[in-house]
Amino acid sequence: MLTVALSKGRLLEPTVAFLARAGIHVPDDILTSRRLIAPDASQQYRFLLVKPMDLPTYVEYGVAAAGICGRDVLLEVEPDVHQPLDLGFGRCRLVLAGKAGEVTENHNLLSTARVATKYPRTAERYFRAQGLPVEVIFLSGSVELAPNLDLADTIVDLVETGRTLRENGLEVIEEIAESTARVVVNRASFHLQHEEVQEFLRCLRKAMT
Ligand code: PRP
Repeated sequence: MLTVALSKGRLLEPTVAFLARAGIHVPDDILTSRRLIAPDASQQYRFLLVKPMDLPTYVEYGVAAAGICGRDVLLEVEPDVHQPLDLGFGRCRLVLAGKAGEVTENHNLLSTARVATKYPRTAERYFRAQGLPVEVIFLSGSVELAPNLDLADTIVDLVETGRTLRENGLEVIEEIAESTARVVVNRASFHLQHEEVQEFLRCLRKAMT
């Protein structure tokens, strides 16, 4: 049996739909109940539902042999895992955003910025690469509030439809990275459960074509 971690939140629905196309059926009760672990009907897989940012940790430490998470999470966590497949769905962008209007008027905004984000390491890296001093303020959600309440000048956050930015009077300043759903595999499991892992990847590849 292969233990596969799935990301709760925005990626869960498309992940479950993609797995179904691959012939892998995530049990309904894990989606509707509060259970966080369940085997599929074939007993070939056992699924864990975890917070997106925690998923690489479950896989890196071998609690799950494999997992599906966004590239945004992998950029932030930088886990020591195999990343054999880009599944292509769940496309979104990691961006630097600020208050609409102020962005083009105030070019010094970035050099004095306090930036609020769920992605502190990615934000640090991004600003350090540009030699810009910033104070990174970690928030675990509702990041779009920060500029409007003067907690921060800018945010680094995920944009999918752009609706959350728009409805909070923010706009994109710059794109930092693109993200899609990725398969990650524990390095030891890649060898110790070679057959199961390869079969899992075979099913996923088939669903991609
Ligand atoms: C993400 C992100 C934005 C929103 C963007 O949050 O942090 O807030 O989605 O999506 P949009 O461009 O389609 O409006 P998520 O829904 O994952 O929830 P969270 O804030 O609880 O992490």
